[in-house]
Amino acid sequence: MSRFLTLLRATTMGLAPPRLLLLLLLVAAAETSAGAGRKEKGSGGGLRFRSGSGTFKVVQVADMHYADGRLTGCLDVLPSEVAACSDLNTTAFLYRVFRAEDPDLVVFTGDNIYGADATDAAKSMDAAIAPAINMKLPWAAVIGNHDQEGTLSREGVMRHLVGMKNTLSRFNPEGIEIDGYGNYNLEVGGVEGTLLANKSVLNLYFLDSGDYSTVPSIGGYGWIKASQQFWFQQTSSSLQTKYMKEQPKQKEAAPGLVYFHIPLPEFSSFTASNFTGVKQEGISSPSINSGFFASMVEAGDVKAAFIGHDHVNDFCGNLNGIQLCYAGGFGYHAYGKAGWSRRARVVSVQLEKTDSGEWRGVKFIKTWKRLDDPHLTTIDSQILWNRGSNGMALS
Ligand SMILES: *[C@@H]1O[C@H](CO)[C@@H](O)[C@H](O)[C@H]1NC(C)=O
Ligand SMILES: *[C@@H]1O[C@H](CO)[C@@H](O)[C@H](O)[C@H]1NC(C)=O
Ligand SMILES: *[C@@H]1O[C@H](CO)[C@@H](O)[C@H](O)[C@H]1NC(C)=O
Repeated sequence: MSRFLTLLRATTMGLAPPRLLLLLLLVAAAETSAGAGRKEKGSGGGLRFRSGSGTFKVVQVADMHYADGRLTGCLDVLPSEVAACSDLNTTAFLYRVFRAEDPDLVVFTGDNIYGADATDAAKSMDAAIAPAINMKLPWAAVIGNHDQEGTLSREGVMRHLVGMKNTLSRFNPEGIEIDGYGNYNLEVGGVEGTLLANKSVLNLYFLDSGDYSTVPSIGGYGWIKASQQFWFQQTSSSLQTKYMKEQPKQKEAAPGLVYFHIPLPEFSSFTASNFTGVKQEGISSPSINSGFFASMVEAGDVKAAFIGHDHVNDFCGNLNGIQLCYAGGFGYHAYGKAGWSRRARVVSVQLEKTDSGEWRGVKFIKTWKRLDDPHLTTIDSQILWNRGSNGMALS
């Protein structure tokens, strides 16, 4: 409030009454919309943990494959479901899962639209994301390999996304050369009024995993390039330095979560004996390994990476201390498996409470999935990471 009053005093001097009235109205409107936000925001309008529960919750939406709304039919639903099914079922599922989970952030991990079937890519994207905007939820997106197959290029799709309402998506870091579109990070502040209020206690990284190989001798999907890995390493390193070297100094790095579209070759490291969820199709990673998994392991702060792309895989498996997680397909115009519900992955991050009852840094990270069945069934709840027990014995 005081910020606005100061601004008002500074800017009203010398204004004639009608213009002053207009300015007052504008300031009042800005104040109301800022105050109407359901969530407490950090100083930069950023993300932060909730003061009541000490939690921060992300709903991941993978592979909506949205096209022309009501006119676009569904793939792989039961014969009895075909007639009444369209992109609008994807929209309805978004509203249901947002109402049920009340997330602090929604992340769309690519193939948000199916460009080839979208008459107007920008309109399809607007319709696809609309539920998050209408519910005033902060959201972030990366692009997959199908978003650009319509009337917008990859660059064009990302430019459109960063211009949409309530988005925290960014085009790319400024001042550096980087491959792809939509490489950025978000900081999640500690609880307002606590010791870690002005620190990023959870870091989110978003990368463009590309679409297809552009090297003639190599077929298949694209990969996360050296320039992107360099940016990730630099960003992770500077966040860790800030967290551990600046007052109030912290002993361990803040955990990081990474979101992109195409699976890394390391997603093939598991069998049913060591993952939670299902693997019902092959792992469609690029045919060469560009080393991003090694970059994440070396950085040390990343606890989990979340992707989409393979719609009927929805597992999480732990490799070298990093959980590699699929979300499972969300959209009805995306291939799937008839009778196997479309789904979303939820991640809930919980802070630790001190003896005096104040929220501090992250204690553990949980995940589960929500199915688009009549009860929005929750399945496969698991702890992804627990402070003090990740690769170290609890003493
Ligand atoms: C799609 O939505 C329609 C209209 O609400 C509903 O009748 C139908 O059961 C839904 N189909 C699926 C597969 O969820
Ligand atoms: C966080 O920043 C705000 C605004 O600058 C300041 O009032 C507050 O004292 C800071 N809190 C801590 C714990 O440093
Ligand atoms: C998972 O188990 C299989 C054998 O069942 C083994 O070959 C593989 O190395 C295990 N993967 C990890 C990441 O532990």
